[in-house]
Amino acid sequence: NWKMESFIEEQIQIIREEVGDKKVLLGLSGGVDSSVVGVLLQRAIGDQLTSIFVDHGLLRKNEADAVMESLGGKFGLNIIKVDAQERFLTKLSGVTDPEKKRKIIGNEFIQVFNDEAQKLDGIDYLAQGTLYTDVIESGTDTAQTIKSHHNVGGLPEDMHFKLIEPLNKLFKDEVRELGEALGMPHELVWRQPFPGPGLGIRILGDITEDKLEIVRESDAILREEIANAGLEGDVWQYFTVLTGVRSVGVMGDYRTYDYTIAIRAITSVDGMTADFARLPWELLQKISARIVNEVGHINRVVYDITAKPPATVEWE
Ligand code: XMP
Repeated sequence: NWKMESFIEEQIQIIREEVGDKKVLLGLSGGVDSSVVGVLLQRAIGDQLTSIFVDHGLLRKNEADAVMESLGGKFGLNIIKVDAQERFLTKLSGVTDPEKKRKIIGNEFIQVFNDEAQKLDGIDYLAQGTLYTDVIESGTDTAQTIKSHHNVGGLPEDMHFKLIEPLNKLFKDEVRELGEALGMPHELVWRQPFPGPGLGIRILGDITEDKLEIVRESDAILREEIANAGLEGDVWQYFTVLTGVRSVGVMGDYRTYDYTIAIRAITSVDGMTADFARLPWELLQKISARIVNEVGHINRVVYDITAKPPATVEWE
């Protein structure tokens, strides 16, 4: 589409003129916005761009590999991947309060990013995937008072970067159009929202490696079955939650006392309000059977049929 093509050409000119022969740093999250910025900058300034991808260990199954393969491989971005799961799990050990978890994850994220950025020399610019809506919202205090949202791109305060924000006049759907015009894969461009704190807020109570495994595997099953049913585009967001509830079950001749997985699948326009998706019973049955059979320590699966409000999309 010519509108996006000319936007790309125009941005490339602007970025080249601004940056000159200087170096640019980008925090990649695997989300749409930072990925689009990465691919756009790569086109404009190639190897003058360095990206840092912090894997906090709270990503979905195969997500980190997919980012590295697609952005690092196909699109040739120079990505420094930081495997920081241990650091995050140590900081989160024993923490059960949702807001505390969010704050710890957000702060640790900035810390890891800074530690890594400090190792790099001669960087003048920091690129960010700030959207038009972020620009409008900042400065008002209406933006998320219910849950503290933490996203990539908290500006390191002790660093004196100049900012590059090529998406700051665009809305989300325009960013997706831009991504497509840049030849980015459909799965990445149309990726459902995924919170910055990741699976950390989909495990109620304290986070452990075992619990992460449970939520990651059950989520992968859910996603696979929704894709197989061809419903990916119809459901706005879908994921599993490891509830803190344990209950009695029976497996063969044995009594079990294990965890409950909740499935959350919603329809929504912007995440501000939502309704639960009317998934077919047969599909839910299949997902439930697969989860109890394939994921350890789960003997019960429930479907969340609450709208937002009064519930939120995420359970924490
Ligand atoms: P809630 O749970 O507040 O979620 O109804 C609304 C939408 O926001 C996403 N969400 C987040 N996104 N950082 C994000 O980038 C966060 O901390 C965060 N918390 C919730 C949620 O997945 C849903 O799409």
